[in-house]
Amino acid sequence: MILNKALLLGALALTTVMSPCGGKDIVADHVASYGVNMYQSYGPSGQYTHEFDGDEEFYVDLERKETVWQLPLFSKFRSFDPQGALRNLATAKHNLNILIKHSNATAATNEVPEVTVFSKSPVTLGHPNTLICLVDNIFPPVVNITWLSNGHSVTEGVSETSFLSKSDHSFFKISYLTFLPSADEIYDCRVEHWGLDEPLLKHWEPEIPAPMSELTETVVCALGLSVGLVGIVVGTVLIIRGLRSVGASRHQGPL
Ligand SMILES: *[C@@H]1O[C@H](CO)[C@@H](O)[C@H](O)[C@H]1NC(C)=O
Ligand SMILES: *[C@@H]1O[C@H](CO)[C@@H](O)[C@H](O)[C@H]1NC(C)=O
Repeated sequence: MILNKALLLGALALTTVMSPCGGKDIVADHVASYGVNMYQSYGPSGQYTHEFDGDEEFYVDLERKETVWQLPLFSKFRSFDPQGALRNLATAKHNLNILIKHSNATAATNEVPEVTVFSKSPVTLGHPNTLICLVDNIFPPVVNITWLSNGHSVTEGVSETSFLSKSDHSFFKISYLTFLPSADEIYDCRVEHWGLDEPLLKHWEPEIPAPMSELTETVVCALGLSVGLVGIVVGTVLIIRGLRSVGASRHQGPL
């Protein structure tokens, strides 16, 4: 299924949300269907993405008027005119406004987003890594995802995906933060959404094996020492026995 999604800019009040008015103008053949899904968003520019089987193929950077392919390899074989995205958005917005006027659109229910934070690879102090903040169940597609390090806002090394659609018409978005794990730095992924009463902070800190307590150290040390002592005693006994039996065999020997 190829879906051509446009998040429209929020020209109208919150009470006029149409979502989605998709599935129209579907030109289907036996392999894939082509359709348009439109969602209301409230950002200054909206979002334009092409998806194939649930994966984003490309999005159009509306500010820089550039097509950005998910796999750079694709751009070698295919192209998409970013102007087409701008035209489609304008048309979609126009149609949406008409639809809103002619129907009794009701406000969309704000969903509560789910936030998970984890590191890309196992953490080793001093080895560059990436923190991943997955924000799921986003609706409407309006969200701020930011990072805090020791409570201070971080902007360097931060990137995020487009709104990625799900079959239930909600979205997920992933924010990345490249960082150098250190023992005294803790992180939070901060999410703002209308479905939350206040910004949600999802905490993350490196899991460093707890240093051994003094008692544990003493016990381990004592155990090691006693095993060593037992070894010495057993060894001595065996050597003495060995010597004795050699001596005994000499005495008893025919020579
Ligand atoms: C919109 O709502 C009003 C009042 O609830 C109703 O009279 C009208 O028929 C509705 N129009 C449509 C297109 O559903
Ligand atoms: C996102 O941040 C902007 C700028 O601080 C703010 O105006 C807007 O209300 C925030 N959006 C949400 C959903 O909280």
